[in-house]
Amino acid sequence: MRNQFLKWMGRMNVGDLVTDEVWDSFLPHSFQSLSPYQWTPISVVETTWDFLQNETVTSVVDLGSGVGKFCIHLSYLSQDQFSIIGLEDRSELFQISEDLKPKWNAHGVIFRNTNFLENFPRGASHYYAFNPLYETMKGNHSIDSKKDKSAMLFLRNVQQFKNQLYQCKMGTKLITYHGFGGSVLPGFRVLVKKELPLGEWMVWERI
Ligand SMILES: C[S@@+](CC[C@H](N)C(=O)[O-])C[C@H]1O[C@@H](n2cnc3c(N)ncnc32)[C@H](O)[C@@H]1O
Repeated sequence: MRNQFLKWMGRMNVGDLVTDEVWDSFLPHSFQSLSPYQWTPISVVETTWDFLQNETVTSVVDLGSGVGKFCIHLSYLSQDQFSIIGLEDRSELFQISEDLKPKWNAHGVIFRNTNFLENFPRGASHYYAFNPLYETMKGNHSIDSKKDKSAMLFLRNVQQFKNQLYQCKMGTKLITYHGFGGSVLPGFRVLVKKELPLGEWMVWERI
């Protein structure tokens, strides 16, 4: 994997196009096939970066950062203009994201192995969520079978998520890809809604 990466990096310049195929090829094999279902596509990170370029950004927090694809590619695009933090409760995924950081020269990105529902990070200007709670509902394309699947648990988690987000200060933005788990987010208005080829992308603003 390292040799493959060095070969590829040797041929690229900062700003060169990165594809999902290239990015995912540096993941352990079993996590590559999950990519279309679990990790943000490169084009969606690019859409997010287009939006952030016209924003005053202090920090972006990925709530459920998985193998780190969103955070690491955003850092590649933004060249560390702001803090990028990823929170992931699966230690295996957290470790993969840490291992990928030096490979993408993403030294500024901070990953934490924590549950964002319990340790919600306050004070970020922007949060990102690729429907992290949905996994408690779904049977197909699960990351693993370590978490309970139950509609009750899902509803309880979504409510806890809403409560945490409600405490964000005015002007805070939440960017969602495939939603956050619910359809109504008390205390927020929808600022942008795009039907991207691969799914719905939205920006919510705390009012
Ligand atoms: C759909 S994946 C998105 C991964 C990453 N944000 C990306 O876009 O590439 C959702 C991730 O959220 C994580 N997750 C779910 N609930 C969580 C929680 N309460 N705290 C931390 N991570 C959580 C899952 O383990 C999974 O890695």
